[in-house]
Amino acid sequence: MPSPLVRTALPPTVSLEAGEGGLPRLAVANATARALVYLHGAHVAAWRPMGHEPVLWMSRHSSWAAAKPIRGGVPICFPWFGPHATDKGAPGHGFARLLDWTLVAARDDDRGATHLSFELTPPAPPPATWPHPCAAACHVTVGASLELALEIRNTGTEPFTFEEALHTYFAVQDVRTIEISGLAGTDYLDKVGGTTLRNQGPAPIRFTAETDRVYVNTQAACTIHDPGMRRRIVVRKSRSNATVVWNPWVDKAQAMPDFGDDEWPQMVCVETGNVNVHAVTLAAGASHTMTAAIDVAAIA
Ligand code: BG6
Repeated sequence: MPSPLVRTALPPTVSLEAGEGGLPRLAVANATARALVYLHGAHVAAWRPMGHEPVLWMSRHSSWAAAKPIRGGVPICFPWFGPHATDKGAPGHGFARLLDWTLVAARDDDRGATHLSFELTPPAPPPATWPHPCAAACHVTVGASLELALEIRNTGTEPFTFEEALHTYFAVQDVRTIEISGLAGTDYLDKVGGTTLRNQGPAPIRFTAETDRVYVNTQAACTIHDPGMRRRIVVRKSRSNATVVWNPWVDKAQAMPDFGDDEWPQMVCVETGNVNVHAVTLAAGASHTMTAAIDVAAIA
C-alpha cells in the first residue's frame, strides 16, 4: 500500500501497512525490537524490545481517526501543552499530534536498530493560534532502547515561544504498586484542583489518587519500578527541563471518551518536555532538539 507520506525507500525491517482505522503505519521488525509507528502524529504506538513485554500502553478505546489524537504510545505535543493560552477552541496539546507527518529517511544500523525520520510542515496558512513559520522533525530509533528526538526550527524572521512534550504512556501492572524515582527534592506544579507549587521531598512518587504534575528545573533520568511486571523502565533525556507525571485515576478516566473506565491502573505517563515556565524561545533561523531514551530491564 503506497502512501504519499513515505518519501524514502524502506529497509527490509520496515513495512508500510494499514493500521487501526485504516491509518497508515510503519511496522518495524528487526533483530532487537518490534514497533508500530503511525504517520498520523509521527506517533510511536507500540515498542517491544526482544525478551520483554510491550513497554508502551495503548488504550483499547483510542480513536483512530485523522482529526483525533491517539490515546497511548507517544503523542507529540507541540507547539503548546494542555489547553491553548488564549483560544479555548484550539486543540489540546497543540496540532502536531493531529497532523500527518512525512517519512523522509529510514535505515538500519549495524547494532540491529532501525532509524526513522519524520518531518512536519505545519499547514499554510498557519492556524490563527500559531502564526509562526516553523518546521518540526522527529527522529525515532527502534532498538533495544527506544530513542526519540524532537527538533523544532524557526523558519521565520521573528522569534517565537513554544512548548513541547514527548507524552509517553507506559504500561504497568498496577499504578498503585509502582514507584518512580529520580525526582526526589524536585519542585512541581500540582495541576489537580488548581495549580499549586509543591516539592516532592525525599520519597519516590507513589500513586494514591489522580496525579497531574509538572516537575520543573529537572533534567534527571526517571526510573519506573514495577514489581508486578518484574521490570524497571528508565527514561533519560536531554534539553528538557520539565517532566510531567500523569495518571487520571477513576473520575477523569470515566470523563474521557477515548479512555476505558477500567484502564487507568495499567498506565502511567512520564513525559519529557519543555512546558509552562520552561517554554522555549527560539530566535529566527534557530533550532532546538529535545531527546528522550527509554530502556527496560528485568528485576528479580
Ligand atoms: C497530561 C496533562 O500530560 O495529559 C493532563 O498534564 C492531561 O492535564 C493529559 O489531562 C491528557 O491530555 P489529553 O489532551 O491527551 O486528554
